[in-house]
Amino acid sequence: MGPNGSGKSTLLRILLGLLTPESGDVTLLGEHPGRLSNPGRLGYVPQRARFAPDLPATVTEVVATGRLARHGWWRRPRDEDREAVTHAINAVDLGEFKDRRVGELSGGQQQRVMIAKALSSDPELLVLDEPVAGVDAESQRQFRDSVVHLIEQHNGAVLLVSHELGAVADDLDRVVVLKQRVVFDGTPAELRSRGVSLGVHAEDLPLWLEGLD
Ligand SMILES: Nc1ncnc2c1ncn2[C@@H]1O[C@H](COP(=O)(O)OP(=O)(O)OP(=O)(O)O)[C@@H](O)[C@H]1O
Ligand SMILES: [Mg+2]
Repeated sequence: MGPNGSGKSTLLRILLGLLTPESGDVTLLGEHPGRLSNPGRLGYVPQRARFAPDLPATVTEVVATGRLARHGWWRRPRDEDREAVTHAINAVDLGEFKDRRVGELSGGQQQRVMIAKALSSDPELLVLDEPVAGVDAESQRQFRDSVVHLIEQHNGAVLLVSHELGAVADDLDRVVVLKQRVVFDGTPAELRSRGVSLGVHAEDLPLWLEGLD
């Protein structure tokens, strides 16, 4: 977490190999980021993700590409693949839209397609950059349940950038606060002991982040 412009998305992009750091080395899942031998080990939902309006693919097809990235394009889809795709689509409550073209969906619905695509491969690491900004409260709750399911059932790790940590406060192992540099790195309990509550309202969050130095 951190205020606007503190470097959260930049750090994620470096971690994912989308940007090259000016100094230092990055290792992701033991490999060079951006050149993973199995890209499906990683799920990534970028901030403000949108599909091209004329993309001729349905919700199911887009979510299935996330599954195939993990299990190989050459393999014929099995029942378990179809089930994982259906499960991911239902997890973001897009069941009734599964055959719609993604470009026709609203911005918040497109964001939920991105989340489903990332969830469908049961990634070992799921990287989410403000995934629920612009997503309604009920979908946020379902998303939280899916992430907890991923962590508990599939042993996945989740790296989440968010201004809305209230919904997941109880599930966090570690909190890193950025403000051009790392100003806090520790457990939620340690953060609380410095007088900061994760249950704070989203609109107050930038204020108390400003106070951390
Ligand atoms: N490739 C780049 N080269 C130089 N500066 C950059 C680059 N990418 C981003 N920046 C700058 O780095 C700063 C941090 O940007 P970044 O997008 O990481 O912030 P953020 O913490 O994700 O903010 P927000 O909460 O608004 O999403 C900004 O001032 C941005 O303009
Ligand atoms: Mg950002």
